[in-house]
Amino acid sequence: MWVFDRLTIRIFTIFLFTIGFFLTLIIIIPSLDSRNLAVPSEKAKSTGISLASSIQHELVNVPKNSFRWWMRFVVAMDNVKHSGQFLYVITPSDQIITPDTSNIDIVRNFSELTNGFERPAKKIHDTLEIIGPFTIMYSDEVYRLYIMQEITDTQSQFVSFIFDHPFLLLLLTMLASTPLLLWLSWSLAKPARRLKKAADQVARGNIKEWPELEKFGSSEFKSTGASFNHMLRELKRMQDLQQRLLSDISHELRTPLTRLQLATSLSRRKYGETKETERIEIESKKLDLMIGELLSLARQQYANNETKAPHQIAQLWKPVLDNAVFEAAQLDKSLNLISYPPEQWILCYPQALCSALENVIRNAFRYSYQKIEVNFAIVNEWLYVTIDDDGPGVEQQELEQIFRPFYRTSEARDRESGGTGLGLAIVANSITQDSGEVYAEKSHLGGLRIVIKLPLYKK
Ligand SMILES: Nc1ncnc2c1ncn2[C@@H]1O[C@H](COP(=O)(O)OP(=O)(O)OP(=O)(O)O)[C@@H](O)[C@H]1O
Ligand SMILES: [Mg+2]
Repeated sequence: MWVFDRLTIRIFTIFLFTIGFFLTLIIIIPSLDSRNLAVPSEKAKSTGISLASSIQHELVNVPKNSFRWWMRFVVAMDNVKHSGQFLYVITPSDQIITPDTSNIDIVRNFSELTNGFERPAKKIHDTLEIIGPFTIMYSDEVYRLYIMQEITDTQSQFVSFIFDHPFLLLLLTMLASTPLLLWLSWSLAKPARRLKKAADQVARGNIKEWPELEKFGSSEFKSTGASFNHMLRELKRMQDLQQRLLSDISHELRTPLTRLQLATSLSRRKYGETKETERIEIESKKLDLMIGELLSLARQQYANNETKAPHQIAQLWKPVLDNAVFEAAQLDKSLNLISYPPEQWILCYPQALCSALENVIRNAFRYSYQKIEVNFAIVNEWLYVTIDDDGPGVEQQELEQIFRPFYRTSEARDRESGGTGLGLAIVANSITQDSGEVYAEKSHLGGLRIVIKLPLYKK
């Protein structure tokens, strides 16, 4: 395994690199500025030395105590200097002799800085550079010569500008480290997003493995992905086991129930109709219904015989809606189709999806007082089916629970409406199988609203 795969190493390296880069800049930058004290080129040095020796040569015959001896310096300097050069000589008593009095402060500063230097140095002031000191021996004393001239190699304006604005330097460093940091955050965020997507899918009941979680990202994320997939395998195994159990139990219950029903009818024949046989009949019918629904739920989850295929929405649900309209008339309730099912297509298990809508509408019939509304809408490639009713509705905290198998609100239980509490569990299961979502909320009619959300099929 490549070490850089590890997030710890990555983060550590990038921080170390950025800090190192910045520190190096801070240390190196000032010495790069040619306006600081620097070593002059060999050529500049030899020019200075030869100038100093010519001046010394011209002065040989001038005695120190002669009248206005320093004038001789001025004359000698004037004689030897090249055009564009200004020469300054500093006496042992730190006085400046020069034919040119401009820039004298710069020379004074520079001489103080370089006093006692063995070798000449160089410093830049705007467009001028000053080089020195070069020694001139005059009557056994040391005089120092400084040369000022136009700069030969100018430092670019841009570089000078950067040196004068340290914050700009900081900004540059930040810009330089930005791609690295972006890459770091990307390598953190991307697998995290992938993991979230997978977890969301699982939360929606779509338990399938995500091999790419183990392939991309840093090693920490890969091993998290592997554990995640391992968890999914276990979950799937447990789910299968549970569904098989459900299917087996409901199937096995059928046999004694059939015998019970048989025995009841035998006893009725023998002893005639009694209150007890009637009761037994009602309860065993209820039991039969319940087992039937349990079986259909188990079959749907565990051994679905249907195949998933694209279907046109309008065609698919037409019989369901026709039946619902008919049934509404029978029950003396008003079913209002706000809009008709659209022409688009969805990828689904057709029978399961039909019975899902039927289940929800049947609930609305059962629990509403008077009004039911069904609406179809398409938003962002999703089909939304809403079924509203004006019944008592469901408490806020129970809106999620009604989708659990056998869950019935206390009100529904009291009403003796005869349901088993499996309808919505079957609905939720088949909608999930079609990659959709189903949820409940408060209806504008006062009762319950069920929303079925399904992705449209793109050809
Ligand atoms: N339209 C509705 N208005 C009010 N409560 C509802 C509505 N639909 C469902 N419920 C509540 O949710 C519970 C679960 O519904 P579900 O359809 O799963 O079971 P059921 O209708 O009781 O029985 P069945 O298995 O015969 O459908 C119901 O018992 C009822 O309490
Ligand atoms: Mg129901």
